[in-house]
Amino acid sequence: MNEIMYKNAELFVGNTAVREIAQSHRTPFWVYSKAEILANIAVWSQEVNKKNLVCFALKANDNKNIVNLMGGEGLGADVVSAGELFLALKAGIAPDKIVFAGVGKQDFEIEYALRQKIRAFNVESEQELQVIQDIAERMNVPAPIHIRVNPDIDAKSHPYITTGMAKNKFGIETGRAIDLFKYAKSLSNISLKGIHVHIGSQLLDMSPFEDCSKALRELYFTLKNLGIEIDTIDLGGGLGVDYRQVIDWPPDETGESFQAPSVEDYTSAILKHLIDLPLQFVFEPGRSMIANTAILVVSVIYTKKTSEKKFIIVNGGMNDLIRPSLYQAYHRILPLKNPVRETRETVDVVGPICETTDFLAKDRLLPKVERGELLAIFSSGAYGYSLSSNYNGRGRLAEILVDGSKYKVIRRAETYEDFLKLYE
Ligand code: LLP
Repeated sequence: MNEIMYKNAELFVGNTAVREIAQSHRTPFWVYSKAEILANIAVWSQEVNKKNLVCFALKANDNKNIVNLMGGEGLGADVVSAGELFLALKAGIAPDKIVFAGVGKQDFEIEYALRQKIRAFNVESEQELQVIQDIAERMNVPAPIHIRVNPDIDAKSHPYITTGMAKNKFGIETGRAIDLFKYAKSLSNISLKGIHVHIGSQLLDMSPFEDCSKALRELYFTLKNLGIEIDTIDLGGGLGVDYRQVIDWPPDETGESFQAPSVEDYTSAILKHLIDLPLQFVFEPGRSMIANTAILVVSVIYTKKTSEKKFIIVNGGMNDLIRPSLYQAYHRILPLKNPVRETRETVDVVGPICETTDFLAKDRLLPKVERGELLAIFSSGAYGYSLSSNYNGRGRLAEILVDGSKYKVIRRAETYEDFLKLYE
């Protein structure tokens, strides 16, 4: 299914022409397809059979209405702060479907999560384990945990989103973790449930997942031989998506194409050496659940030529979508109307922010566009809004959800009055 597509050279989300939304809402804004979100949830739920659990990684998209939609379909949440935990609960996610990761959990966050009776903490260090024990003892409650191991596997992704190597701050090296599992077992208020792992994001090669699966099997048996029984392995997230062939037509300008791995490819790789074990598996997809369900719509403010470059200056910038600036990430960009034109030119698509790193695309071959035109930045549903900021005095953008031929604002745009509220 593809709900985001051109019909008669006009971009539609569901049965709604995106230009129609722009007639009553000021650009830039995000547009999501409800049908695409539901389709992704269905694919994940089908691959991950009933005894296992999918916990959506809220960091990819924390819109309360979207998280609520996921909760309604039986998904849980992976959170990394008390703020995300608060949001997940407000969105109606049951506490026993919430896992809490992150290397820097603060005491008040641990207390809050214990009070809410979450499913498990994904513990990332020796000190953190001790702090959780001490707080749980003081509160006289059990603290369910998974220990996050760092298997030292190269995810072969962008170095900024690789998390499972010994040089990364995440988890505990697998060898050193054994002692911690033993110690955890001895603690009065710690209820050791399992192992957690997350080796990185935007993985397109499935072999690191297979390696990880193998390492987890070995660890499982090492623990078993030591008399340490666990019932869960939380496998984290990381499945990559295709940022190029995001729509059936027109083909991507770069001509680069590859077969992006499916959820099935991913689950068979990560479960390859684990599937026969008597365990419950937790999955924490972020990007693969939500990236390709949304576009960011921007307007061309000016076009500008220098002796070296042509710039397309749009009204969305790095404060709205920081992925190109931060990871040199590729997002397809096309005009909402007539995406195939006789004249094409190589341009930089840049925002209004006063930073040289403020770009959405560099040296990109695009149809020639004019001032006032509307452009879609594709695949921006993951790490789009959630990584956006108020930099340069800009309010965060509205998020709009299309359901067939209807659409509604599911988070309004911030106004300048909203800025003042913080001083009250
Ligand atoms: N679980 C944990 C513990 C994580 O740290 C992450 C992502 C996920 C799950 C979800 O991973 P996913 O399925 O989305 O790959 N801002 C970057 C991505 C950072 C990912 C951080 N951790 C980007 O825009 O590419």
